[in-house]
Amino acid sequence: MPKIKITDTTFRDAHQSLMATRLRTEDMLPIAERMDSVGFHSMEVWGGATFDAATRFLAEDPWERLRAFKKLMPRTPLQMLLRGQSLVGYRNYADDFVDAFVQRSAEAGIDVFRVFDALNDERNLSRSAAAVKRAGKHLQMTICYSVTEEGRLGGPIYDLDYYLDRARVFRGMDADSVCVKDMAGLLAPYDSYTLISALKDALDVPVQLHTHYTSGMASMSCLKAIEAGVDVVDACLAPLALRTSQPAVEPLIMSLAGSEMDAGLDLEKLLEMGDYLESVLPKYREHLETPRTAVIDARVLSHQIPGGMVSNLTSQLRQMDALDRLPEVLAEIPRARKEMGYPPLVTPMSQMVGTQSVSNVLVGRYKMVSDEIKDYVSGLYGRAPSPIDPDVAAAILDDDAQPATGRPADLIEPELDKAREAVREISTDMNDALTYGLYPATGMKFLRIKYGLDPMPDDMKPKTLEEAQAERQTPAASVAAESGPPPEKSENARAYNVHVGGQYFRIEVDLADDEEDDASQDANVALGPAAEDVILAAPMPGVVARYTAQVGETIGAGDTIVTLEAMKMENSLPAPVSGEIKDFPTAIGSTVKKGDPLAIISPR
Ligand code: CO
Repeated sequence: MPKIKITDTTFRDAHQSLMATRLRTEDMLPIAERMDSVGFHSMEVWGGATFDAATRFLAEDPWERLRAFKKLMPRTPLQMLLRGQSLVGYRNYADDFVDAFVQRSAEAGIDVFRVFDALNDERNLSRSAAAVKRAGKHLQMTICYSVTEEGRLGGPIYDLDYYLDRARVFRGMDADSVCVKDMAGLLAPYDSYTLISALKDALDVPVQLHTHYTSGMASMSCLKAIEAGVDVVDACLAPLALRTSQPAVEPLIMSLAGSEMDAGLDLEKLLEMGDYLESVLPKYREHLETPRTAVIDARVLSHQIPGGMVSNLTSQLRQMDALDRLPEVLAEIPRARKEMGYPPLVTPMSQMVGTQSVSNVLVGRYKMVSDEIKDYVSGLYGRAPSPIDPDVAAAILDDDAQPATGRPADLIEPELDKAREAVREISTDMNDALTYGLYPATGMKFLRIKYGLDPMPDDMKPKTLEEAQAERQTPAASVAAESGPPPEKSENARAYNVHVGGQYFRIEVDLADDEEDDASQDANVALGPAAEDVILAAPMPGVVARYTAQVGETIGAGDTIVTLEAMKMENSLPAPVSGEIKDFPTAIGSTVKKGDPLAIISPR
């Protein structure tokens, strides 16, 4: 009997961490059978961001991916990461939705559910845990590992007592095993030894360690956990290991080979599959590329921000053409986190704090607040580990709002039927309704593509290796400033007040000469904004989720009029001035660029 067991994360966390979750099913299936033959304790293949990324970016059905894995990997238990009441989304869902999602996941092939809550609040885990047990599957209750500024086990919140208390509470919820989830790679080797030893003493079920290599400590922390008696550790194939991903499995098993903790896995088989990955990963170079030279991010030891979060922020800022603001955003995160009561930086808290930090830097502190942060401050995500800054809470909450103190999901109306109803014209498959319910905007887009109602956009299509290489050799088109003297302003030029976040621009718009002949007529006739109208422009790229006022309605400055889905959050955008809404020129569901007009208001 091998003494240490290994969960492989290559098909889920590894590519989520290193390549923004873009690995396609077609590139995983060729080694699925061989992976199944290795003898891993389990394989993490689903959940986390894979569900979102598959529907949002790849036009792939995550349910079909799971069924394909199950077919090719019948022997190895398949594992998913489930965010408690948030499932694979970014908010708490209603109990009926949670029950259905867990049941359907079990039916589609999940054997082990690794269930966690970003706040380690057991009330957010109880419903999904019960659903896992009801489905007869393995319930792995998970403690998110976090630290405060000192960066080590201990400190004012995250000490040994904290973790032992969580472990006892979670075990009491009928856990089949308990996992320590070190999503930021903050668990230092000797802290790992102390923590795992204490958990092994306190618990009568297996203990597993999930770490990230980010700071460079993970291999050492794994080894110390193994010495402390941990039952299972997570690792992945070398091509997708290290950096912000898991430790590599190959050196780990060689380190233990011949010892009483020998994992008993076949190194040659692992190397062959690594070679295969090396042959397909160049297709994804645009997602794999990193500006960093170092394999480790030693700075995480001081800023404690998970690597996955840094790579998300990097791609968000790049899309907004604001990559140069990354250092400011990284400096803002600890400040915002402290104001939010030191939540562990794990999904969805990491996205929420990260996204709020991005808008705090780009738009102004708490000028644009996501619905999610509002809900969190209202107590709808659960207990913050320490109190939320009262000044920040007051700025975010409505004047008379009282934060909730009960189980957050008790406040959520059943929503499964609504989701089924919303997709009924397209599909009666419950799994499709779940996909939509999880992500209404991008989920609906995906379903329309899946059922052939909309064409698949080119950027969602898979690429061959040759296409990826050809793309690399074609220089990107660039926009050059027009040369020569600027043309004279015509009498048709019109002035607009454009509000972008907290900033305000006055711009004058004139049609370019080459378009004037056929377009000027229309432009004058079209119902456009008058010179004194105020335009609320998108402060960042996103999708228009909804308008919360009507055309013709009189609104006050500061009233929320548009909800913009940006950076995976729904963000309330307030009216910059009081007045009458003249037009919402952009259709709901449309993708907008920074600066695109969202609302035209005649000021009063
Ligand atoms: Co992870």
